[in-house]
Amino acid sequence: MELPFAESYKIKMVETIKKSTREDREKWIKEANYNLFNLKSEQVFIDLLTDSGTGAMSDKQWSAMMIGDESYAGATSYYKLKNQIKELLGFEYFLPTHQGRAAENVLFSALITEGDIIPGNTHFDTTKGHIEFRKAKAIDCTIDEAFDTEIDHPFKGNVNLEKLEKTIQEHTPEKIPFIVLTVTCNSSGGQPVSIENMKGIRKIADKYNIPVIYDSARFAENAYFIKIREKGCENKTIKEIVKEMYSYADGMTMSSKKDAIVNMGGFIGLKSEEIFKKATMFNIIFEGYITYGGMSGRDMNALAQGLDEGTEFDYLETRINQVAYLGQRLTNFGIPVQKPYGGHAIFVDAKKFLPNLPKEEFVAQTLAVELYLEAGIRGVEIGALLADRDPETRENRYPALELLRLAIPRRVYTNNHMDVIAVALKNVFDKKNQITKGLKIVDEAPIMRHFTVELERI
Ligand code: F0G
Repeated sequence: MELPFAESYKIKMVETIKKSTREDREKWIKEANYNLFNLKSEQVFIDLLTDSGTGAMSDKQWSAMMIGDESYAGATSYYKLKNQIKELLGFEYFLPTHQGRAAENVLFSALITEGDIIPGNTHFDTTKGHIEFRKAKAIDCTIDEAFDTEIDHPFKGNVNLEKLEKTIQEHTPEKIPFIVLTVTCNSSGGQPVSIENMKGIRKIADKYNIPVIYDSARFAENAYFIKIREKGCENKTIKEIVKEMYSYADGMTMSSKKDAIVNMGGFIGLKSEEIFKKATMFNIIFEGYITYGGMSGRDMNALAQGLDEGTEFDYLETRINQVAYLGQRLTNFGIPVQKPYGGHAIFVDAKKFLPNLPKEEFVAQTLAVELYLEAGIRGVEIGALLADRDPETRENRYPALELLRLAIPRRVYTNNHMDVIAVALKNVFDKKNQITKGLKIVDEAPIMRHFTVELERI
């Protein structure tokens, strides 16, 4: 008999989580203005708000923290991380930052000017925010298949190369400071980009002399999918695939809180000394001196170790299998989810789940609230709230997909938790015809409103 699958780690430390009653949750969500970001974490039983900074560090990472070098300049922890980045990703130049959006802030300050165009696959909201904040424009060139949750395409994060080239020609290469490629593509469902597509983008970038920057939060999960799904890559190690991926990039921004399995941290990796020098100035102003830029020595040590562990096949197999386990359970219940299952999360297709709600009533947010009420599970809306208003017309933007993201923290929950999530969502699904009213906005910020928006039941 074939042995069943089991996790590639054992548990050394635990944290208590508490259940609550539906009555409690009704009160708490109202107090939170129907915005799940406003809930206290103790009001949540299973927290799937994000997989960012919520992972469990290993014994080796914790021990690396104990020997962090906290020198202001030239710390050994900085050099340890620098060497790890060079060895794993191939970047000669690197700047530490306190998280991913800080890396975007620094690098974009060096590269973007007003009126620029930044094409890519679906830009993450902070990336888009940092582009629009500089009065530049993000253009989404993702393949059309990504916007249909039912199509089973192996690389839904891919860029439509024709669309990319047309965008460059239309706006002229001078207007395009770089192309951004998000690996895996968070906003389109944790979907990977293939090596073949990366090569194609490189070719176009070389033709027009435009740098390519990878938004790398979940680069290791992307490499795992390449190994499993792309012809010719099945016998390569994850680390070999990662090396090849970055051979087609000029630079990267990294939120280390995801695939490097640390609670805080980020960095910029670059091949060009010239861009590095420009970015260094902004790093010193915004983040800190070159050799710590927003991170303590102990955090850089844990990150160096996490980059190594996060690119090991056994860990990634455990990780992706758990996400797929949840996806399969939901599929078995007939719940519409993005396929194939994403790397870091399962994305529930809220428009298909609640077809009777109009888009103006924030369908995915309504579903997120219902799931919380059912079992104290906190997911996050990836839909019209997150999409913000158009910066010029100030009209609400309604994206092609209204998704409820159930992001799975790394090495944190067991498959028993996945079972609870699946059944809770099934219970909501069984009651879907009773959910006939959504939510309306009472108060919102002019940019990135989803974090602080206040809502009311209609
Ligand atoms: N890029 C991608 C693809 C991301 O998913 C994130 C963060 C960032 C950049 C920004 O990094 O949070 O370290 O500043 N995503 C989190 C999420 C917040 O929940 O998906 P950060």
